[in-house]
Amino acid sequence: MADERTPPRGLARGLTNYGDADFSLYLRRSFARSMGYSREMLARPVVGIADSASGFNNCHRHFPELIDAVKRGVIAAGGLPVQFPTVSLGEVFLHPTSMMFRNLMSIDVEEMIRAQPMDAAVLVGGCDKTVPAQLMGAASADVPAVQLLAGPMMPTRWQGERLGACTDCRRFWAMYRAGTIDARQIEEVEGNLATTAGTCAVMGTASTMASIAEALGMALPGTAAIPAVHADRLRAAEASGRQAVALALAPVRPSDVITERSLENALRVMLAIGGSTNAIVHLTAIAGRVGVRIPLARLNELSDSTPVLVDLKPTGQHYMSDLYSAGGIGAVLRELKDLLHLDCRTVTGETLGERIAAPLAYVDREIVRPMSDPFQKQGGLVALFGSLAPQGAILKRSAADPKLFEREGRAVVFESLEDLAARVDSAELDVTADDFLVLQNAGPRSGVAMPEAGYLPIPARLARAGAKDMVRISDARMSGTAYGTIVLHVTPEAAIGGPLALVRNGDRIRLSVRDRRIDLLVDDRELAKRRAAWQPPVPPPARGYARLYMDHVLQADEGCDFDFLRKSGGVRGPE
Ligand code: FES
Repeated sequence: MADERTPPRGLARGLTNYGDADFSLYLRRSFARSMGYSREMLARPVVGIADSASGFNNCHRHFPELIDAVKRGVIAAGGLPVQFPTVSLGEVFLHPTSMMFRNLMSIDVEEMIRAQPMDAAVLVGGCDKTVPAQLMGAASADVPAVQLLAGPMMPTRWQGERLGACTDCRRFWAMYRAGTIDARQIEEVEGNLATTAGTCAVMGTASTMASIAEALGMALPGTAAIPAVHADRLRAAEASGRQAVALALAPVRPSDVITERSLENALRVMLAIGGSTNAIVHLTAIAGRVGVRIPLARLNELSDSTPVLVDLKPTGQHYMSDLYSAGGIGAVLRELKDLLHLDCRTVTGETLGERIAAPLAYVDREIVRPMSDPFQKQGGLVALFGSLAPQGAILKRSAADPKLFEREGRAVVFESLEDLAARVDSAELDVTADDFLVLQNAGPRSGVAMPEAGYLPIPARLARAGAKDMVRISDARMSGTAYGTIVLHVTPEAAIGGPLALVRNGDRIRLSVRDRRIDLLVDDRELAKRRAAWQPPVPPPARGYARLYMDHVLQADEGCDFDFLRKSGGVRGPE
């Protein structure tokens, strides 16, 4: 029987309720022994391994091997590894978008960690939404946890050029649309973009979230950028298993690691690596689970004082596997040292300062620049505010064309994704390269759950004439692998009647990145008239998860989490 002064450990945790605790433990052990475990193994601390492999998730196809290595580490350190399945979110296999299911996966992770008898967990994830979902769930469950990342895919050579998902996916698709390459060539490219296990090869959302997990202190040092197929990835898995046993015996909980200060460190790293716009939504949601608010105005302050140090696609030239050889996120953290809160705890038990105290033996300065010679002087992301986005919008300035930063343009409006698909390439579309393309009704409550549709295609006629970029504005998200002068996450969104819903063809919009403004230049009386005539675009879904989602999802500035999942007692933050 468990000592009443110490909380139960291992299999004795969280007993199934039969009204007789001793009976419950006896029955649990008996059923566990039916799986062939010895009594000695069942007496060990239990490490749960949250497995997000799925036949619908190409990025996670190496997880069986990775999880074997985690188990090896757990057993070597004296624990009992127990793998359990969770929801898996394969980015391109989900309709209407994986974003709709991130919160579902976070609920699954939280509840299965809490409900099942584990002293610590290893969270094995990688594809875009899986790492945020696991960190959100683990933060809410607050059981000690280590994040083990899938690691990035390797690029492949095709006709003398290195290709990697998915910045090159978009570049070649744009060339195909512009008629620069033909159907046979695009088919060949299709077969060479994603050729190994692992997450997208550039600094997209998955790589950004991996880097953030390491910067937060939730993943082991040096593990974010290890390629999926590198033997070091297996060694990282073994080490993560070992560390989880250490955490089971001397708990460091997610709430000890994910704090206002470590979240600020993560924001700094996100900016310094030219990270994905999606990461700000996910980090805001993770912060909400520990009761911290990330105001977009603070993002701007950090962005102005954090240079981009990493030269990776989509903003630069290289791939995530190059970052690993160049020194990884450890090299970035060492450069940022003077800007970081070094007293933050990590899952190793060390502080961030201790973890980066020793210099790295080698850093490739082509890929990780020193603070004295940054890739770009200011951070990659900025928040914009104004009459079109009173609660904010995001622009990835590091992936945008500075020539378009201070402009006024005529709005060419698409009312929905269907409208966009039907008309963007139409010969009748009245559009020039100086216009601003506006997409409405693609936000969190639009019925399509904020897809990565903010990278509106350049109308084919303009693309063929050589237009490479235009100002594009929406309440959608954008893949972290995309680029262009693209204003995203406009909040409040059109589907709840935000000002974006009131934009009409021919309206003037002013963008000023310098002033952090995005304004709709229409007088108040006209806007009031349009507002009075506005109707919500979609009826609420009748049942199931879609109903839960629609009833509870928050706007982008609150991380698109569900209102009831944020830390109860409110979310605090700098005022
Ligand atoms: Fe999984 Fe890009 S599709 S990370």
